Amino acid sequence: MSPSIRFLLLLLLLFPPPTLSSLSTHKYDPSSRLTLYVNKIGPYANPQETYPYYSLPWCKPEEGHQVNEKKEGVSIGETLEGHELRNSGYHIFFGVNSPHSETSCTQVLKKNDVEELGRAVREQYFYQMYFDDLPVWGMVGETVKGQDKEYIFTQRHLSVGYNNNRIIEVNMTSDGLEPLEVGHTLSFSLTVTWHKTSKSFHNRFERYLDNEFFEHQIHWFSIFNAFMMVIFLCGMVALILVRTLRKDYQKYERDEEIDLEGMERSIVEDSGWKQIHGDVFRPPKYLMIFASLIGTGWQLIVIIAGVILFAIAGPVHGDVYEERGEVITAFIVCYTLSSVVAGFASGRYYRQFFGTPRLEASSRWQMTMGVTVLLLPCVAAVVLSGLNGIALWYGTTASIPFGVMFKIFAIWCFVSIPLSVLGTMFGRHFGRKNCFPCRVNSIPRQIPDPAWYGNPVFLVPLSGILPFGSIFIELYFIFTSYWNYKFYYVYGFMLLVFIILAIVTMCSTIVSVYFLLNAENYHWQWTALFSGGFSGFYVFLYALYYFYFKTNMTGLLQTCFYFGYMGLQSFGMSLLCGTFGFASASWFVRTIFQNVKVD
Ligand SMILES: *[C@@H]1O[C@H](CO)[C@@H](O)[C@H](O)[C@H]1NC(C)=O
Repeated sequence: MSPSIRFLLLLLLLFPPPTLSSLSTHKYDPSSRLTLYVNKIGPYANPQETYPYYSLPWCKPEEGHQVNEKKEGVSIGETLEGHELRNSGYHIFFGVNSPHSETSCTQVLKKNDVEELGRAVREQYFYQMYFDDLPVWGMVGETVKGQDKEYIFTQRHLSVGYNNNRIIEVNMTSDGLEPLEVGHTLSFSLTVTWHKTSKSFHNRFERYLDNEFFEHQIHWFSIFNAFMMVIFLCGMVALILVRTLRKDYQKYERDEEIDLEGMERSIVEDSGWKQIHGDVFRPPKYLMIFASLIGTGWQLIVIIAGVILFAIAGPVHGDVYEERGEVITAFIVCYTLSSVVAGFASGRYYRQFFGTPRLEASSRWQMTMGVTVLLLPCVAAVVLSGLNGIALWYGTTASIPFGVMFKIFAIWCFVSIPLSVLGTMFGRHFGRKNCFPCRVNSIPRQIPDPAWYGNPVFLVPLSGILPFGSIFIELYFIFTSYWNYKFYYVYGFMLLVFIILAIVTMCSTIVSVYFLLNAENYHWQWTALFSGGFSGFYVFLYALYYFYFKTNMTGLLQTCFYFGYMGLQSFGMSLLCGTFGFASASWFVRTIFQNVKVD
């Protein structure tokens, strides 16, 4: 068996195809038993602080509250999103009304129960349940105004709409407020009514999508705005570059003609980017790290593009949200497969500098490969294991079980790393050696003191502004769906914004590098990476603003999760945009120096 087939089999083993039970066909016989699954519970203001439903001291049904009955077909993504489905213990039969409350369990409140349930009510705990994979939500209880007393809901009512043998929609309402007092008896009950409906099964998730929010005029307007900005910016960049470059070339040509006639060069005009042709293709400082960053950046570009395209093509399963955690699973698959891209890009980039004056470049490619393989996973692992520690300490459902960690580690070891090595081999094989348009001088040139507009300290923050400006409205929508319980589904918008972001980043990085080269500074590689990537820093600032003014999150756990994830996301975005910027800048540098005749 060839290694690649073995990897494929391994991949299949780790991502088992969903089983074809009635749960995945969603068709039921009349009067067949259905299960209402309870999922997670937590304070409304903190979306990541969710606990298992039965962690509250309310009464548990006799049967099945401990096991996750939906064990087959639980994907890694579902576990990572913190879903933990348990049986609610209610008896529900397809199409059979049970209007008289059937008591599922009774409990006498002890002091401890009153305290804990009371805290949950005060912190506005709400819970989520699943009925035939459709989510329903409810509040734990209420405090009555004026009275310093908590009440808990004990009756739930499910109103189910069905079409033939399929369930189309579920509404849940809560009732039966009972005071939380020591010694008081609570009996929890559920009533179910069934209604025929003519709505179709395939649109049943549409009611969860907030069209008014996501397809608001402002959203369209922002996309339109960003498009205009792209056109304007590209036009401006093209204009500036064509005009300035043409002038520069004319000047140099004139200089050369004058030279030929044996007259003296004008010393005043003899400055600008052309002067550094002997240094501009020098390898960047810390070449190894730089190559790894570029490789990882390309990998991120492929991952994000892959996940967005996957989400757009979602209807494989009828709807993107039909399967919990699908997007995370897609992310893991894309990450694994795109390791080959990371290896290829970094290996190829590194290869270019073989045989240039920096001799060390030729001997350290294995190390470059190692750094490329480790960079992203290490950063992610450090942040995520910190968060996981906190989650474990709090006992939330967001903690990652050991089995899942092991699976991910196995995928990384047996698929991701070999693919990365393979990519590096290809990159070294196909990368051309030392193929720059200009020769590199053996002695580095002195860099003159720059004017402010040639100083990277100004160029880098300035060039990050426009890319950030083109995406921040979309960021608001993404943040709101992630941190404020909205299903994000407008991936078409996201794709457009991704493309706009790429173009704007490329344009502004080219301008930034042009100013840098004109200041006769030839350390353009790092400047390009930072110029492109600086928008990630602005994204983090925006996340700070969002945290303080748009959310009500409290507590150590939620704060750590928010900033951990936002930090990771900003870092990833920096790398991704930096790579876009660097790619465009290196195309630009090659293009302008191609036409420079070196004497
Ligand atoms: C659920 O609630 C919505 C909105 O209140 C209503 O239009 C729909 O008919 C309800 N469906 C069922 C099955 O009760």
